Amino acid sequence: MKAVGIVGTGSYLPENIVTNNHFAEYLDTTDEWIVERTGIKERRKAAPGQATSDLGAIAAQKAIEDAGLKPEDIDMIITATVTPDMLFPSTACLIQNKIGAVNAGAFDISAACSGFVYGLSIANGYVATGMYKNVLVIGAEVLSAVLDPYDRRTVVLFGDGAGAAVVSEVDEGSGFLAFDLGADGSGGDVLKVNAGGSRMPATEDTFKQGEHYAKMEGKEVFKFAVRILGLTSKKVLAKANISTEDVDFLVPHQANIRIVDAALRTFKIAKDKTIINLDIYGNTSGASIPIALDEGLKSGKIKEQSMIVMVGFGAGLTWASTVMKYSGKKKGEQISA
Ligand code: ACO
Repeated sequence: MKAVGIVGTGSYLPENIVTNNHFAEYLDTTDEWIVERTGIKERRKAAPGQATSDLGAIAAQKAIEDAGLKPEDIDMIITATVTPDMLFPSTACLIQNKIGAVNAGAFDISAACSGFVYGLSIANGYVATGMYKNVLVIGAEVLSAVLDPYDRRTVVLFGDGAGAAVVSEVDEGSGFLAFDLGADGSGGDVLKVNAGGSRMPATEDTFKQGEHYAKMEGKEVFKFAVRILGLTSKKVLAKANISTEDVDFLVPHQANIRIVDAALRTFKIAKDKTIINLDIYGNTSGASIPIALDEGLKSGKIKEQSMIVMVGFGAGLTWASTVMKYSGKKKGEQISA
């Protein structure tokens, strides 16, 4: 098996900023409540007419450029999203067309906030076996499209955005060391959008009842997230045969500051060894980990040879974690200064 890792990243956030006070103007909520319970101060909202593939394509182009590649070099595009442009065709196909990745296959995966790490595991398999050379994994969401503007329990939590990574062969001894993926479908009801699929096709009635909006039992998701973070972290570190002391940088899914704090305690890691951007972007579901990863790399906080853990959890219920020694280069390339 070849050693496989991330060789380029990119991200894109829409320009429109929505502050907590915007919600406080028309809902029974306050900036203080939102900040105290979630850590979120503001989030981004896609412009009218801007869909998930539009955000994903910009992040993808940046990641391809960062990897020193051209769109034609991409063999496969995997897009993790729960807010696709439409039921079909896949958002990955729409992105493939937008960026001109004419030699790439393309498909979506649905694993909510764990989707990007699920996607990395698939990309790892393709490249490790030699089936493909360069796989583009994108996490992109326009969650504002499925939020009930009058539901204070959900609308304040989520934001729109996209992140992407190119996965290729890297030098032996670096790249992905382990993955841990899991699901508990019995928890599917705690976070879902009911209408628009085959179980409840969209009708005038479903629209009137707001069944096309996301519904969440926040407390249940919270308890699940804190429990599963500890479990999946332990498992993935054991699979990689490393301990918490070996971890240089943590890239957790950005759902809630209290959940991130629990992750930091699990890893016994200081706040400067993680990225926290939920205060300005909210929870961007499948996009949150690749955006945070890109910011960690571009800010220089994640260095070459850093041992990184990425960990996500979300609707499904699903969870996914990975350990990666960041090589910062493709196989055979010199390490940059
Ligand atoms: N402003 C004011 N009050 C609110 C708001 C709000 N925005 N939202 C909820 N409340 C109210 C509730 O209605 C409830 O009122 P009640 O007691 O009169 O019924 C009260 O606050 C307490 O509600 P709880 O749900 O118990 O509050 P909690 O402290 O659990 O915080 C929160 C809620 C922030 C949603 C928290 O549970 C959480 O973060 N859960 C995890 C959510 C999450 O991470 N989801 C996404 C993960 S998966 C994915 O990313 C797709």
